[in-house]
Amino acid sequence: MIDVILGLQWGDEGKGKIVDYFAPRYDSIARFQGGPNAGHTLYVNNEKIVLHQIPSGIFHPENINLIGSGVVLDAITLKRECDKVASFGVDVKKNLFISERTHLILPSHRALDKASEMQKGDSKIGSTLKGIGPAYMDKTGRNGLRVGDLKDRSFTANYIKLRLKHQKLLDNFNFNEDIADWEEEFFEALEFLKTLNIVNGEYFINEKIKQGKRVLAEGAQGSMLDIDFGTFPFVTSSSTITAGVCNGLGVAPQLIKDVMGVTKAYCTRVGGGPFPTELHDETGEAIRKAGSEFGATTGRPRRCGWIDLVALQYACMINGVTKLIMTKADIMDGFSPLNVCTAYNINGEQTSQIPFQMTRVAIEPVYQSFDGWGVDTTGISNANQLPQKMSEYIDFINKFVGVPVSYVSNGPGRDQIISL
Ligand code: GDP
Ligand code: IMO
Ligand code: MG
Repeated sequence: MIDVILGLQWGDEGKGKIVDYFAPRYDSIARFQGGPNAGHTLYVNNEKIVLHQIPSGIFHPENINLIGSGVVLDAITLKRECDKVASFGVDVKKNLFISERTHLILPSHRALDKASEMQKGDSKIGSTLKGIGPAYMDKTGRNGLRVGDLKDRSFTANYIKLRLKHQKLLDNFNFNEDIADWEEEFFEALEFLKTLNIVNGEYFINEKIKQGKRVLAEGAQGSMLDIDFGTFPFVTSSSTITAGVCNGLGVAPQLIKDVMGVTKAYCTRVGGGPFPTELHDETGEAIRKAGSEFGATTGRPRRCGWIDLVALQYACMINGVTKLIMTKADIMDGFSPLNVCTAYNINGEQTSQIPFQMTRVAIEPVYQSFDGWGVDTTGISNANQLPQKMSEYIDFINKFVGVPVSYVSNGPGRDQIISL
């Protein structure tokens, strides 16, 4: 069987920490989508580490980590990250595996991402500019190069062909930066990539499952950034939801057991696009400050607001979430009252459904207010020590969404998590 940990909001829910916490219960951890747009923060020996490409089980020597077929891979980022984790004594030659079907992000994809965003002006997505959209476009456009192609003698010729095609597009965008500047490091990184364990990912993971090994699929981004069901066009380019596990790893849907959905106790978003519960006032600013809400990949300030149960319920529905994990509950320690969005008011009508086009309608959130608990919860390790007011807040979310909150995370550290 395979369990899943994924984000239910607009990313940065704390997935990295949660995967790192659960990793010892599993044999293998597999990323199934996304690329270096992800920034998953973990603390190892009290040192902060942000992973972009490598799954978050890498610091557990007994875990096998797979970069699955549905991921898009930036070899330069991967090489840097491998060097970083190696400095902690991790043996990537032993613990890291990469599917040969994984698509490569080329320097020209990064350039295209930048050119496309520049052209969009005010309506830009706010992409991380890591080349994600263009790499997935080449995948669905059937032009992309994959990790397995590196073995092929025609790789360089195919690379040059694709690069020329990209150059024509870049010329159309009047994009003047020279891609050649990035290529030397790219080709060096490809040589490094060739020395890693490149495997037939779907057989690799299905064999593990057949042997009764426990597999955990790690999501990147969040459900509201999903290419199909997120706040299109302000989304990423991959399937961030449970269905993406099947596509991205080549596993059958009936093998999926628990889907652990991660949500913050409030809400954040980085980049453009609709965010109904966003706070443009001093409370929003105070949440950003208390939660250190700055992007793990780009350093951009994250937009902050109250928890949105309309979006959360939707995310639970499309993912089949079996357990909720609430992170950053401690950040709410100093806030009172706490607002919870239970419906949207659109043109005078109240709805509890996500509308088709969130960008074209004015959404006014309908809130229910709760008293804050007003105590420091960061040192609590037992559910029965949680303040009553916090339990009430969590109970309400349980009932509203119809999925139990099974864990509450009360700090960034590995052990700051409470089982309910
Ligand atoms: P991810 O992309 O979902 O893995 O999340 P990020 O790493 O981008 O952002 C989450 C941030 O919150 C990181 O800085 C984490 O160290 C931090 N974090 C995670 N869980 C908690 C928590 O329960 N409390 C606090 N205070 N910080 C947390
Ligand atoms: P993790 O895994 C938060 C956002 C970008 C932008 C949009 C598209 O750390 O939760 P892209 O680079 O994919 O073309 O950007 O998606 N975005 C994220 N926001 N966390 C992430 O990853 C994100 N990955 C992409 O800010 O709005
Ligand atoms: Mg992140």
